[in-house]
Parts: sequence; C-alpha cells; structure tokens
Amino acid sequence: MAKQKLRIGVIFGGRSGEHEVSLASAQAVIDNLNKEHYEIVPIGITTTGTWLLGTEPATLLAAGKNVQSTAADTGTTSVTFTGDPTVRHLIPVHGKEPLGDQGQIDVIFPVMHGTYGEDGTLQGLLDMANVPYVGCGVLGAALGMDKEKMKMIFATAGLPNVKYQVFRRNQWERDPETIIHSIEANIGYPNFVKPVNLGSSVGISKAHNREELEHAIRVAAEYDRKIIVEQNINCRELECAVLGNDEPIASVVGEIIASNEFYDYKAKYVDNKSREAIPADIPQEVAEQIRHYAVQAFQALDLNGLARVDFFIDKVSGAVYINEVNTMPGFTQISMYPKLWAASGLPYAELLDRLIELAQERFADRQRNRTTF
Ligand SMILES: Nc1ncnc2c1ncn2[C@@H]1O[C@H](COP(=O)(O)OP(=O)(O)O)[C@@H](O)[C@H]1O
Ligand SMILES: [Mg+2]
Repeated sequence: MAKQKLRIGVIFGGRSGEHEVSLASAQAVIDNLNKEHYEIVPIGITTTGTWLLGTEPATLLAAGKNVQSTAADTGTTSVTFTGDPTVRHLIPVHGKEPLGDQGQIDVIFPVMHGTYGEDGTLQGLLDMANVPYVGCGVLGAALGMDKEKMKMIFATAGLPNVKYQVFRRNQWERDPETIIHSIEANIGYPNFVKPVNLGSSVGISKAHNREELEHAIRVAAEYDRKIIVEQNINCRELECAVLGNDEPIASVVGEIIASNEFYDYKAKYVDNKSREAIPADIPQEVAEQIRHYAVQAFQALDLNGLARVDFFIDKVSGAVYINEVNTMPGFTQISMYPKLWAASGLPYAELLDRLIELAQERFADRQRNRTTF
C-alpha cells in the first residue's frame, strides 16, 4: 500500500510589515515541496489577522499582496485548532465542528516573517495545539526578534557585538536631551537607529548628525516601544545558514553586496540591484570563525530547525561582529538561506524535507517530557 502522504499546513501572510515577503517565500515553499510525499494545506492570514482556508489562501498568494477575506473580517483569528491535543484539527473559531479530514494536519510550516509569525506568538499557539512545526520554539523565536535580548545573550556566549544602547519610547518622550547626549558620548556618529523588534530593515535609519538622529528615533518609535542605537561599522555583510536541532550544522558563508548605502528595504526587495557572492571571498580562517560563531549563536539562543546568522566584517580592521539571527529567513529560491544550502550540497527540495524531519524530531523529543508528577 502506498505510504500516506504527510499533510503539511503552510502558513503565510500575517499581521506583519513583512506580509508580502512571506507570500513570496510561501509560494516558493509550496512549489518545491515534493508532492509525492506531501499534501499541502495552504493557510493564509490577512494583514488584519483573519485566517483563510480552502480556496481563499490561493487568492491571497496569487495577489502577491494582502487581500481581504471574503469572510467577515473582524480582525481576529477566525480559524484555530481544536482544544483537543490528540486530533490536531483546524476549526473555525465561530463554528463547533472540525473541518473533517481536510482539517487534519501532520506538520505546520510557518513561512512567516516578523511579528505574529516569527516572534514566538504563532509558535505558542502551535504548542498549545500540540502540532509539530518547522523552526524555532517560543523562546528561540522571541529572542530572535528582540535585538536587545539577542545581543545580551550573544555577549554571555562570548560573541562579538557592535557597541549599542537601548532605551524606551516613553523615556525618549520624557527626556530626549539626556538620551541624545548619552548616544553622542557613547556611540557617536554615524550610527544606526532601529526598532528593537522588527525586520526587513523597516524603521531603520542611519544617522550622521544630531538632526538625523532625532528624526531616526521618531521614526523607530513609531514601530516599537524599545529603540536600539548602534555604532556604525564600515562593513562587508556576511551571512551563514544554520540547520539542525541539538547538533546544528553551518553552511558555507555568503556575502551581500547592498545596492544602497546600507541593506535597507529598497535594496532588499525593491531595486533588485543588490548582489551576493557565494561563497564569500574571504580568507578560509575568517569563514571558519564565522561558521563557528553561527553555530554558537544558534545554540546560545536555543534555536531549532533553521536560522540565518548575519555578520559584519570591518573593512579597515577586519574585525568580525555578529549582527543578528533570522529564525525564518527569506525563503524564495533566490533568497540567501536556501542558496547557501544549495552551495553546500543541499538543494532546495531536500532542504524542505530536512526541515520537516527536524520538526518531527523536535516534536518527538518534547513528547518525552513529563507534564505530570
Ligand atoms: N551597526 C551597523 N553598522 C553598519 N551597518 C548596519 C548596522 N546595523 C545595521 N546595518 C545595516 O542595516 C541593515 C539592516 O539592519 P539589521 O539589524 O540587519 O535589521 P533587520 O532585522 O531589519 O534586517 C543591515 O543589513 C546593514 O546593511
Ligand atoms: Mg538583517
């Protein structure tokens, strides 16, 4: 008898500034999942948080941008899992019945970038529903989104951070002068101003003087209640892909050559002029150092499945700094994460197989934990 296909729920879209990036990544994942082994259940989430099932997710994907649900869009989740952890059935929130066999899911692949997808919130929902899923758990995902907590853990793991300072929006509103003076004394110009919890360079500016700094902080404060200011590194940007659970492995190292002054949203997704070099043209020992740091970062943050770990190399001193991890990196066929694996001998479709295996492995390992005593 033919082996039953695994039913993979691919979740995409979501309440995030990276909604459209997620749609592009999800389309590539859906196209490349081996249809002989998997049956795909597309699950879309609109920018207002409505979950779409059946034929609606395809409409969302085809539009390449957010479309409104034909269902009443209340801004709340309209589909969730049953509270019964043994069945893993999707149900409409306002209905009572599971969606028959069509609702049964074996593994969820959350192809979600940014808030409410990559930050631990969706992972928490999936844990409550007792469904295996690709990628990090709640803690790793949340740490991977918080540039401050991530850096604190990097520091304890002995990883080299750039100099930075964090403050809260309400501190800024109360006493902007003290904050400006402290940044000028400790960080200097130019510097990078970022919302602590975001991605895709949204809300990030490079400030060359006080006027630009004040403006940059106001912009970042629109996106988050915590703001981070970092010393500017005149740098080359290197990226390394990590794959695994308890014994993660690192890919070859790649370089991003941004088309703009820095790798901003336009350079990432709009103008198509940024280039990359795989493998990066760097000395062997520097590449080894980066691969080693990438695995250390993955373990220090308690990540699972996959992460892309990003680095800076100072163009003058050659010093290596860790910038950040992305726990659900861009996943189109021309995205760095799958390309780094392809260059390391693991083609896209096999990478997807491996991620699904890792999801099942982590789930089985967690099932061993006692929940009573
Ligand atoms: N401290 C820094 N020095 C130099 N360039 C930086 C610095 N921080 C960020 N950048 C530039 O801004 C881009 C986006 O910053 P990053 O922290 O990676 O945010 P995101 O999570 O949005 O990708 C980087 O890829 C790099 O081009
Ligand atoms: Mg980045």
